[in-house]
Formats: sequence, structure tokens, C-alpha cells
Amino acid sequence: MQHTDIVLLFSDSEKYVGTAVKVCGWVRTSAEVKPMTFIQINDGTTSLKNLQLTIDQTRFDDEEYKLRIKPALPVGTAVYAEGELVASERNVVELLVSEIRVLGECPGDYPLQKKKTSMEFLRTIPHLRLRTNTFKAVFTVRARLSYAIHKYFNENGYKYVQAPIITNSDCEGAGEMFRVTTQPWATDYKTEEEYNSEDYFGCKAGLAVSCQLEGEMAALGGLGRIYTFGPSFRAEHSNTARHVAEFWHVEPEVCFVDLDEIIEIGEDFIKFIIRDILESCKEELAFFDRFVEKGLLDKLNHVVNSEFAKVDYTEAVEILQKSRQKFEYPVYWGADLQSEHERYLTEEVYKRPVFLKNYPKEIKAFYMKQNPDGKTVAATDLLVPGIGEIIGCSERETDLEKLQQAMRDRNMPIEEYTRYLDTRRFGSVQHSGFGLGLDRMVMYVTGMTNIRDVLQFPRTYEHIY
Ligand code: 4AD
Ligand code: MG
Repeated sequence: MQHTDIVLLFSDSEKYVGTAVKVCGWVRTSAEVKPMTFIQINDGTTSLKNLQLTIDQTRFDDEEYKLRIKPALPVGTAVYAEGELVASERNVVELLVSEIRVLGECPGDYPLQKKKTSMEFLRTIPHLRLRTNTFKAVFTVRARLSYAIHKYFNENGYKYVQAPIITNSDCEGAGEMFRVTTQPWATDYKTEEEYNSEDYFGCKAGLAVSCQLEGEMAALGGLGRIYTFGPSFRAEHSNTARHVAEFWHVEPEVCFVDLDEIIEIGEDFIKFIIRDILESCKEELAFFDRFVEKGLLDKLNHVVNSEFAKVDYTEAVEILQKSRQKFEYPVYWGADLQSEHERYLTEEVYKRPVFLKNYPKEIKAFYMKQNPDGKTVAATDLLVPGIGEIIGCSERETDLEKLQQAMRDRNMPIEEYTRYLDTRRFGSVQHSGFGLGLDRMVMYVTGMTNIRDVLQFPRTYEHIY
């Protein structure tokens, strides 16, 4: 249908004011104030600005008004309108309607009426919530962040690799892999191997928890500097505001860099994508600053202009122990820090993003480079106020012997990782990488406090939205 995007009527108003335009959109609100009728419509090209359709009731006789204008008033109705675009003190521009047509009716049981609704209620209508200001703004920022992520890596010489989602390697070794199978269980199978061998792939398969191992094989396999960006799946039994079973994962892998260098890259990357949305999502961020997290813009500006803190795990444990804070979980050297500890460090102690470095090797994955102290690995998590961990990062172990030993210590089936281990045999080099959860990043930059509200259809423990 020939029409003009509403965003252009605002952004290029000089061009359109005084001309005849055709628009489409969904009714957000409408009001009849004799002798005028006002309808605000939105076509999805703006998050927050609606176009006002101004209708002079006297131009229609009663019958005509009832037939043509009345059906266009209910909230949620899809309409088409033509008329002259005029400048407006209150609305920047508005359309003086000469013709209006209903494209799709919206009956009275439409769940998004004008009254204020709760986030919990909106989660029950994920297919309609994108019609609200908050969700339009969240998904606009999310889309732009994804673009900025691709932009950063493309501008810095990384190749985008599409790793498989169906895999048989549990990269994180946490036993959180979803199984992929077409094989119904039957009692005649004697062993798991027998069951797996008759399955679709002839072996055990699951959904990737991370594409890191494939990423390492691409980087060391000859591309040098790559990133993957796609969904990762984790059958975590954590029903929190920051865990979903299907999340979006950005994972760069870079040859010839050590832990400190990958930290620098991570910091530069985070600042780049925040700077990008500060520039390109001004309206949305101003909205979040006003209605969702007071001080959000100051926070983001502070983040891009300050250096992130870097602190050793060992020192962080001492800080936590010395703090007189009451934590639910105990803090001791060797403990896997909980979200309450991470948030205390980043929110109370450093008040900015913190890279926590050199964790005890027992609580981290097999692939991380073992430090000379024999106790820790060259790993780091980036913690941010309000959320906790948004990046998991490490330099990788390149010594074949040590890597195999780390796998044996974790009872991993080494024979299933021969290709991965080949990267340590045929021209092994120092390399590092990290994983950023896009969904948590969206939460951080919008101030949304529940991960269920930054995904279109979240998948969480015991729930498919
Ligand atoms: O710290 P993680 O588990 O690290 C890895 O998967 C590494 N293989 C990454 C790498 O080095 N290539 O996960 C990385 C990030 C977390 O910091 C978090 O932001 C996000 O992925 N994440 C989740 N986000 C939402 N829901 C979940 N269940 C998540 N699990 C991890
Ligand atoms: Mg992690």
C-alpha cells in the first residue's frame, strides 16, 4: 500500500508539511471533542511519537461520520488515512484528514485498552505488548544494539562465523545442555549408547550452550579473529530475573592476545555499543530515563567516559569478607560468587563496571588458561550495577597436556573433542575470547529489571511464553 513512514513525517517535516500524504498505522488513542475528532496512530517506525490525525466533524454529515469515522476510533484498529500534513505547535506535525479507511477492525475485547497495565499482565500477551511504548522502545534499542555489535566487529576486522546450534559438545561442562532427539525411549534399549546410536544423528546431540569451541576452531583454524552471534540454550533450573533458557550470545575469539588485551577489547566494545545507542536511540533512552530507571542517561554517559575497574578475585573476596554486609551465601576463597556478592562489588564498592579476574580453577570451565600459581585461571567476568555478570571471558589454555588434564579432572569424554584438541597440536597460539549475553545488555542499557521483558517470547524454567 503506497504510504509514507510516520518517522519521516517527523524527521523530514519540512519536506512534507503542506503536501498531501498517505499514512497507515494502529490507533493508540482517540478522542471526540466537538467539532473535532483526534486519532493518534503509530506504524512502528517510531517508538514513542504518534501521528495525530485531525478530523473536522463538520465535513461529514451524521450518517457519513457514523459509517466512516466511528469505526476508526477504537484503540488497536488498523487504519489508512490521507490528507494534508500541517505544522503543529503541540505535535510538530499533524494530518488534516480528507480520507480515512479501516484496514483491520479491533473489537472491544482488545486487551490493551488505554488504562495502565502491569508488566506481569503484559507478559501474558507477548504477541501484543510490542504495541506499547515501553516495548516498542525496548525492541528498538535491542535491534540497534544488535546492529552496533555487528558494526563493532566488522569495523575491527572480525569475521562473522555462523556456528551450528545442534552440537554434541557441552562447552561449559555444566550439564545444562538440552537434548535434541527424534527417538522415543523404549525399554528394549540396553544402554544409552544403543539408544543414541539409533537416534537421528546416530549419536547424542543437543543445543549449543555456547559457540566458543567452534569459534576457537574457526579462529585458530585460520581466520584469526572471529565472532559468533546467535542463540545459546541452557537448561538452568534458575528462575531468576536474569536467566532464560534461550538467550542471545555474542562470542568473539581472538588469536595472539592475552587476558589483559581481551579485557581491553571487551571494554572498548561495551563502550562502543553504548555510545552508538546514546547517539541513535536518544528518544527511547530519554523515555527509559524518565519512566524506568531515573538517572539512566547519567549512568550510561559515566560508563562510556570512565575506565572500568579491574580487580583480582582474591582481592574481591577479601573486600567482601571485610564488608559488614549480611550475605545469604558465605564468602570464602574458592566460593563461586553469587549475584548478591557481584552486585555488592559493582554497586557499592566500585559503582561502575568491574572486571573480576583470576578465578579459582575449580569453579571455572576446562578451557581456561591455568595461571602459574597452580590455583587460578586467566578468566574474568564483567560485572555491572543492577545486573551482575554480563560477560564471561578468558584467555584459553593452549598447552595440550594441561588442557587434557583439565578435561580428565572434570570427567569429560576426551575422545569427543579430538578436533578441538587438534587446534592445540597444529600450530597452537595464544588466544582469548568472551561471551556477552545480549539480553542482559539490553536490560542494562534500558533499565528493564526482568529479562522476560527484553525478549519477544521468553523461554524460562517451567515456562514457554
Ligand atoms: O559466562 P558464560 O557461561 O560464558 C560462556 O559461555 C563462554 N563460553 C563465553 C566465551 O568465552 N565465548 O556466558 C556468557 C554470558 C554471561 O555473562 C551472560 O551474560 C550470558 O552469557 N548468559 C545468560 N544470559 C541469560 N540467560 C542465561 N541463562 C545465561 N547464561 C549466560
Ligand atoms: Mg559466566
